Amino acid sequence: MSQRSCLSVILAAGEGTRMKSAMPKVLHAIAGLPMVAHVVKAAEAAGATGVALVIGHGAEEMRRAAHKFAPKAETFVQEQRLGTGHAVLAAREAISRGYDDILVMFGDTPLIGAGALTAARRKLAEGAAVAVIGFRPPSPAGYGRLVERDDHLVAIREEKDCSEEEKKIGFCNAGMMAVAGKHALQLLDKVGNRNAKSEFYLTDIVEIAGAGGLDVVATEASFENALGINNRAELAEAEAIWQARRRREAMLAGVTLIAPETVYFSHDTEIGADTVVEPNVWFGPGVKIASGARIHAFSHIEGATIASNCDVGPFARLRPGADLRTKAKVGNFCEVKQATIEEGAKVNHLTYIGDARVGAAANIGAGTITCNYDGYSKFFTDIGEGAFVGSNSSLVAPVTIGKGGYIASGSVITESVPDDALAFGRARQKTIPGKGKELRERFASAAAARKKAAE
Ligand code: UD1
Ligand code: MG
Repeated sequence: MSQRSCLSVILAAGEGTRMKSAMPKVLHAIAGLPMVAHVVKAAEAAGATGVALVIGHGAEEMRRAAHKFAPKAETFVQEQRLGTGHAVLAAREAISRGYDDILVMFGDTPLIGAGALTAARRKLAEGAAVAVIGFRPPSPAGYGRLVERDDHLVAIREEKDCSEEEKKIGFCNAGMMAVAGKHALQLLDKVGNRNAKSEFYLTDIVEIAGAGGLDVVATEASFENALGINNRAELAEAEAIWQARRRREAMLAGVTLIAPETVYFSHDTEIGADTVVEPNVWFGPGVKIASGARIHAFSHIEGATIASNCDVGPFARLRPGADLRTKAKVGNFCEVKQATIEEGAKVNHLTYIGDARVGAAANIGAGTITCNYDGYSKFFTDIGEGAFVGSNSSLVAPVTIGKGGYIASGSVITESVPDDALAFGRARQKTIPGKGKELRERFASAAAARKKAAE
């Protein structure tokens, strides 16, 4: 089957009114990725070599988004929403290029996996003209019913067009199907709109193909995989299913999740074996973690690379461009952005490191801040190998601390510090013997005088 060419036509022109959103429904994200992008990924994993996105509502926004998540996809605008059959024909130009298999999919069914699509394509390879993906929802109301006879699908009946008898059928249309490319256009062109909704139903091709003596079958996907998203409650349901699957996959691959239900992955999180993730950790997009790291509780991590045996958190925030090398440590209430923390370096407490390099084995004291922004531009701070930055120091970028440089606590460093130098950037301490006692007595008698005057 692998040598059969395949075009995936993804329907995403609908408005999605029930999302109550200014953004097109299918751009709402699951695991940080638009749901329609999950659909594209599934199609590609099932062997689709071409992707045709049928868009309508919010077409400009859809095009811009598609350019990012599926740069190779072609977009086709369906000007009027006249039904799913009509929508597929918006991609006529792509279909007529001649593919062996056409996979029709919905942009709002993000959990469909390659497995269900491959099963449908296999039926085409075995000679079927149409293979419809069915499922058994807890309640069939609202779905098209699959009417079967002798292992063959004879019709899909939309709820509104069902007889009382047909309404009892529990096997429903998930919406997606594989259609043999050589028959696709001729079947679709025969679809009319004489039904309860006066729409051109894609599902009508089942009866049309049957009447033409072609073989039509149904395959079955799980309810979870076929879940269609119409509102934000269903979006959250799909997110929960996605997260549960990903957590399990991570654990089976050797990652310890102490409280898996509190750890949130992104669609692209990479995490190595023997890494331990404590409770309540959030991974945004673009995170790569090697093996043997420990991510302590309540850390928020996105766009970061974490090498093996690093130690992060609790309550650490790693932002895009944070690059932690082997055995680096970023401790509690630290924020790191666009900065490399080299091997064995420590940024342990209450610190902001942005646009910087912290050299190997350097130690950054509590409360250190890289002052990287003057309100207009960002500047770089370079901290050498083995440097020691005393607590509560401000490093005003651009600035360089040389190898083994030593910064006194509470310094404001505005000039670069050579290798192995000690730098103070604060007023020297002055100690006056007995002055404390004198002040205390003066303040006490002043307070007593004020109290007496008020009586
Ligand atoms: C469709 C199926 C139904 C199935 C159900 C599963 C048909 C006729 N019916 O019904 O059998 O049980 O899905 O959820 O196919 N769309 C367009 N342009 C249009 C119409 C729809 O792009 O003109 C897109 C929508 O954005 C959506 C998808 O096609 O992504 C499905 O359309 P929808 O109106 O939700 O179809 P259902 O009535 O749910
Ligand atoms: Mg629907």
